[in-house]
Amino acid sequence: MRKDDFSRRLMAETTLTASHLIQPFFVIEGKGQRVPVPSMPGVERLSIDQLVIEATRVYQAGVPMVVLFPVTDDAAKTPDCAGAYDPDGLAQRAISELKTQLPNLGVMTDVALDPYSPHGHDGLMNDEGYIVNDETVEVLVKQALSHAVAGADVLGPSDMMDGRVGAMRDALESAGHTNVRIMSYAAKFASTYYGPFRDAVGAAAALGKADKTTYQIDPRNSDEAMHEVAADLAEGADMVMVKPGLPYLDVVQRVKSTFAVPTFAYHVSGEYAMLKAACANGWLDEKPVTLETMTSFVRAGCDGILTYCAADVAEWLAESR
Ligand code: PBG
Repeated sequence: MRKDDFSRRLMAETTLTASHLIQPFFVIEGKGQRVPVPSMPGVERLSIDQLVIEATRVYQAGVPMVVLFPVTDDAAKTPDCAGAYDPDGLAQRAISELKTQLPNLGVMTDVALDPYSPHGHDGLMNDEGYIVNDETVEVLVKQALSHAVAGADVLGPSDMMDGRVGAMRDALESAGHTNVRIMSYAAKFASTYYGPFRDAVGAAAALGKADKTTYQIDPRNSDEAMHEVAADLAEGADMVMVKPGLPYLDVVQRVKSTFAVPTFAYHVSGEYAMLKAACANGWLDEKPVTLETMTSFVRAGCDGILTYCAADVAEWLAESR
């Protein structure tokens, strides 16, 4: 069966398509701005007008959805994180511009407080330096509603507070946003692989040596991830995500086989940086290794992959047809 291309194709168990891909974008203030992220070769922070250009490319390549990460000025960061739900904030303006220009492209947002907190954490901090759950959830709900009002299709709570999915779902229903979907970062691990992302959004300096181990999952645990997924589904999550991706494909497989719900993985910034670094040195061949990596996610049970490679992968897939 492996002898010829025709029989290899006939027995292929998984097929990667552009429909599996979700493209993340970093958004900055200004006009005509493109600022490279040194630790993520090929990735640029984009002002809203440039975001529209890149999102159009991604949409035309067949990618169904993008996810937005605002890079906020230090002046916009306050201990109460009120910038998170500013109706005229950078995230809210980016959402509404994309939905105006590309109404059929899915727009997902990041619901978490790290772009708005002076300390770079995803939630509010008490006097002891601890990230407090319930007070944070109240702010996250306001942020979620402001994204829905701006036109977001899918909310992605990436904060890992308990009870936030249920609180958001209730608030969305009460406000009439019944069709806004929630993709929860259900199994998000306290990972070192987020390093380049934190450079990109400017949270690395604010965080310093601090980590997020008091609210993100311990990388040693898999049962705990299953409990987190079950809780988010019970609270009304429509889709669940495992993050990071490749080092956690065992968790993806458990989640998909146990719950049989729409399951996603985030091929995070550090995974992207490793691939790009090896390819830049000529140690790996970029196109085949990236396609193999993406196929591995689908084989493990992913319905979709958030990846900084989405646009390239979609274009390579189109060429090879
Ligand atoms: C924070 C957030 C992070 C990522 C997405 N949302 C970083 C963190 O938890 O510190 C990481 C994404 C990546 O590494 O590509 N709300």
